[in-house]
Amino acid sequence: MDWGIRNRLSRIFQPQDGRTLMLAVDHGYFLGPTTRLEDPRKTITPLLPYADAIMLTRGILQTCVDPTATVPVVLRVSGGATIVGRDLANETITTSVRDAVRLNASAVALSIFVGSDYEHQTLANLARLIDEATPYGIPVLAVTAVGKELEKRDARYLALACRVAAELGAHFVKTYYCEDFEKVVGGCPVPIVIAGGPKLESDMDVLRLAYDALQGGAAGLDMGRNIWQHDHPVAMIRAIRAIVHEGATPRQAYELLQDLTQASASVGRV
Ligand code: R5P
Repeated sequence: MDWGIRNRLSRIFQPQDGRTLMLAVDHGYFLGPTTRLEDPRKTITPLLPYADAIMLTRGILQTCVDPTATVPVVLRVSGGATIVGRDLANETITTSVRDAVRLNASAVALSIFVGSDYEHQTLANLARLIDEATPYGIPVLAVTAVGKELEKRDARYLALACRVAAELGAHFVKTYYCEDFEKVVGGCPVPIVIAGGPKLESDMDVLRLAYDALQGGAAGLDMGRNIWQHDHPVAMIRAIRAIVHEGATPRQAYELLQDLTQASASVGRV
């Protein structure tokens, strides 16, 4: 693999264990001011020290992240549809590779909507982005998006979508955790990171999801709402980080979360 691609990937996937904890804050590109991401700078800033990379659009990067921040940027470069529009899958490439270079992105990210009316269009977007980004040594993250059809998230569908992304040349893939997740990983020759999805019912559900995904072969997480919609987002990201990089079990991570939450009670919210 090209030196530039490998170098940028090693900023995202920590060389000591090959894993990553990415913080996803790109939701506004189709959801607008989502709950607890209304003021992105306020949400993002306290979490940055605990994230291996941050996934966001150029607009939020430029307005809400200090340019002196050293966190690697995974730049979302697809969009063009919103939650109130006709079809979330109708995406195009919204940010050029030239602009990704200007912003010092460590990777670019684009959604594909396999099985949707826009399957061909979004797969063609991915292929074009890979053709354009690879000569600059910029890795491409393919996101296997399902739009509003959350029920699509089973191993058969996700294995197909991840494999197609890898076949087109994606350097890593973001998908969902599911039953029989090993089948998804087994059919995908590039690293997989897992989205958290909508906020889960309990903290333990989140920690188990993180743990099970890694045990099942994921190379990391790219998590958003289950971190920053938590009442104690810093405590939550630190607990998840313990699972990703320190070998913590869900129970150990839960105890850490409790400790951090209680410790913060006397000094303000973390
Ligand atoms: C959705 O399309 C966005 O790309 C998010 O980055 C992704 O869903 C991960 O965030 P969450 O953990 O909130 O699902």
